[in-house]
Amino acid sequence: MSETAEIRVGDQVIELPVVTGTENEKGIDIRKLRDQTGYITFDSGYKNTGATSSAITFLDGEKGILRYRGYPIEQLAEKSTFLEVAYLLIYGELPTQAEFADWSEKITRHTLIHEDMKEFFEAFPRKAHPMGVLASNLISLSTFYPESLDPDREEEKVDLTIKRLIAKISTIAAWSHKNSVGHPVVYPKNKYNYTENFLNMMFSVPTEDYEPDPVVVKALDQLLILHADHEQNCSTSTVRIVGSSRANLYASIAAGVSALWGPLHGGANQAVIEMLENIQADGGGMQKWIDKAKDKNDPFRIMGFGHRVYKNFDPRATIIKKSCDDVLQKLGVQDPILDLAKQLEHVALNDDYFKERNLYPNVDFYSGIIYKAIGIPTEMFTVMFAMGRLPGWIAQWKEMIADKEPIGRPRQIYTGPTERAYKPMSGR
Ligand code: ACO
Repeated sequence: MSETAEIRVGDQVIELPVVTGTENEKGIDIRKLRDQTGYITFDSGYKNTGATSSAITFLDGEKGILRYRGYPIEQLAEKSTFLEVAYLLIYGELPTQAEFADWSEKITRHTLIHEDMKEFFEAFPRKAHPMGVLASNLISLSTFYPESLDPDREEEKVDLTIKRLIAKISTIAAWSHKNSVGHPVVYPKNKYNYTENFLNMMFSVPTEDYEPDPVVVKALDQLLILHADHEQNCSTSTVRIVGSSRANLYASIAAGVSALWGPLHGGANQAVIEMLENIQADGGGMQKWIDKAKDKNDPFRIMGFGHRVYKNFDPRATIIKKSCDDVLQKLGVQDPILDLAKQLEHVALNDDYFKERNLYPNVDFYSGIIYKAIGIPTEMFTVMFAMGRLPGWIAQWKEMIADKEPIGRPRQIYTGPTERAYKPMSGR
């Protein structure tokens, strides 16, 4: 007999079905609750709400497990490539050699962006934050490819949109950087793989030859893999909810980029470096900042610490920490900011406040240090996160459309004034 749960509301007892996932996660299906009782559930921040069922990513925050389509993140980070992981997330299985060759070739051939879009980059102020430039250009793609706007009817065209997005995001990201430093943009080159091509567009200049360093290529590719999906986080939920209105994929992804920008989410990687630089410039020692983070009247938080679901350790942070040491060693980078990060980590991990609340370094604590070491400017860090997360957003959007999910529309508990009569201005 299938499991059920009971809820007592006043004198009424309601039996509700229990849904069970493949990893034995349990949820109480409350979809009929309001119809049967007039009550809704209340869960601000959705800390306890399963908004969908999904076959893409499994994570167990207590055990520190993260798997894409069943494959452990540790194996993918070590053995796979970002483009292969993107295929896995979007199409559900690892590609065969022939499938990968076709996928990779199509992505490579779509990296050019329409020449008219160059004017957008030139029109943005030099000081424009690259996340704003990225979101604007991603939604602008919809105006260049209006034939693929209907998510329900045109599967082939949507598939082309998927390839265009993955291909063009790297060009848009690199060009937003080139614009900010006043350098000419660098066009994509088909001889490079995905990550090499991005690095070439970022760092190649007309005055010097540039060849991507394999150590840097590997580290960056791994970072993209680690960020590729993370089930129903803030930006992914945004992509799904925007897409649930049957808004096109470009619009849904641009909304995801906007959600990612905030310092409590993807913007944390930029915030970590800024925080460490502040601590360094302040020169007042570490304890002052630990105390500030613990003070409830002070809004300061240790950026890169804590996570909504990981309450023991973030498995991505474990992988990244090692990769960070390797990259700095191989590139011979001596960075006082890294020493500071290590000190901060040590002090926080031994402090009762952080221990009691299960606050550990998350993926963003170390990713910024790697980006910094390979020469990516701080303002581009969240753009790097967006590039990595794109296949996850696409996979989640595609699943939501395939499952014919209804439009996302939460309810609320109203706490404003009850009905009152309008009074003309003079009499108020
Ligand atoms: N520094 C100091 N205290 C913290 C921190 C932190 N980084 N994070 C959480 N806390 C404290 C809170 O003040 C709260 O204390 P209380 O119980 O005494 O009130 C307790 O720990 C629980 O924190 P919540 O904010 O309720 O936890 P939530 O799950 O809502 O938030 C979040 C998770 C947003 C990641 C939070 O830990 C945070 O702000 N961290 C810093 C920003 C950051 O690194 N974000 C990146 C997340 S990873 C990602 O998006 C890829």
